[in-house]
Amino acid sequence: MRRLIRQSLIALAIVLTSPWWVWTRLTRALTGGDATFVACSEFFSLMPGRIGIYLRRGYYAYTLEAFATDCQIAFGTTFSHSRVRIEPEVVIGKNCLIGRVRIGTGTALGSNIDILSGRHQHSFGGDGPVQYQAGTYTQLDIGEHCWIGNSAVLMADVGAGAVIGAGSVVVHAIPARVVAVGNPAIVKKQLPSQAA
Ligand SMILES: CC(C)(COP(=O)(O)OP(=O)(O)OC[C@H]1O[C@@H](n2cnc3c(N)ncnc32)[C@H](O)[C@@H]1OP(=O)(O)O)[C@@H](O)C(=O)NCCC(=O)NCCS
Repeated sequence: MRRLIRQSLIALAIVLTSPWWVWTRLTRALTGGDATFVACSEFFSLMPGRIGIYLRRGYYAYTLEAFATDCQIAFGTTFSHSRVRIEPEVVIGKNCLIGRVRIGTGTALGSNIDILSGRHQHSFGGDGPVQYQAGTYTQLDIGEHCWIGNSAVLMADVGAGAVIGAGSVVVHAIPARVVAVGNPAIVKKQLPSQAA
C-alpha cells in the first residue's frame, strides 16, 4: 500500500512539474545548453519538506541523464549540469552543489557537499581573466554504498563502499572500501570487504 501511494505521488509530481521539464528539454534541444535546467534546479531546490522531495523527483526524472525516482534530494541542493546519473536509493542532504557525476546505488551524501566536474574547469596559463579561459569538465564516479560526510569537496572518483570524512577534500581517486579523511583526503583505514 505504501509503495502504491509513493508511486502515485511520484506520478503526480511528474505531472505537476511537466511545464518545467518540457520547457527544459525544449530549450536544451534548441540551444544545446543547460541554462533553463540550472534555473529550474535552483527553483525546485527551494521547495521545502516532503513536497519538495517529490517535486524534485518529478522534475529530475525527465531532465537528468538518469534518475531513480526513489532517491531523496534535500532542500537547497542544486545541480550545475544535467549530465548526472543517480542510481536507486541515493540520499543527498541539504545545500549540496552537484556537477557532472554518477552516484551509485545506496550512496548517502551529507549536507553542504560540493561535487565538482573534476579539477580544471578553467585554464589559468593564458591571457585574460580566468573565467574566460576554457578548461575541461569531467564526469566523476562515486561508487555504490558510499558515505560522504558533511562539507566534503569531491574533485575525483570515490570507490564503492568508501567513507569520506566530514570536511575532506578529495583531489585524487579514493579506492573502494576505505575510510579517507582530510585535505587532501588520504586513506586512513581499509574496511573489510562485504560478505557475498
Ligand atoms: C570519518 C568518520 C566516519 C570516522 O570514521 P572512523 O573510521 O570511525 O575514523 P576514526 O574516528 O577512528 O578516525 C580515524 C582517523 O581519522 C581522523 N578523522 C576522522 N574524521 C576526520 C575528518 N572528518 N577529518 C579529518 N580527520 C578525521 C581521526 O582523527 C583519526 O586520526 P588518527 O588516526 O591520526 O588519530 C567521521 O569522523 C566523519 O567524518 N563522519 C561524517 C559525519 C557527518 O558528516 N555526518 C553528517 C552526514 S550523515
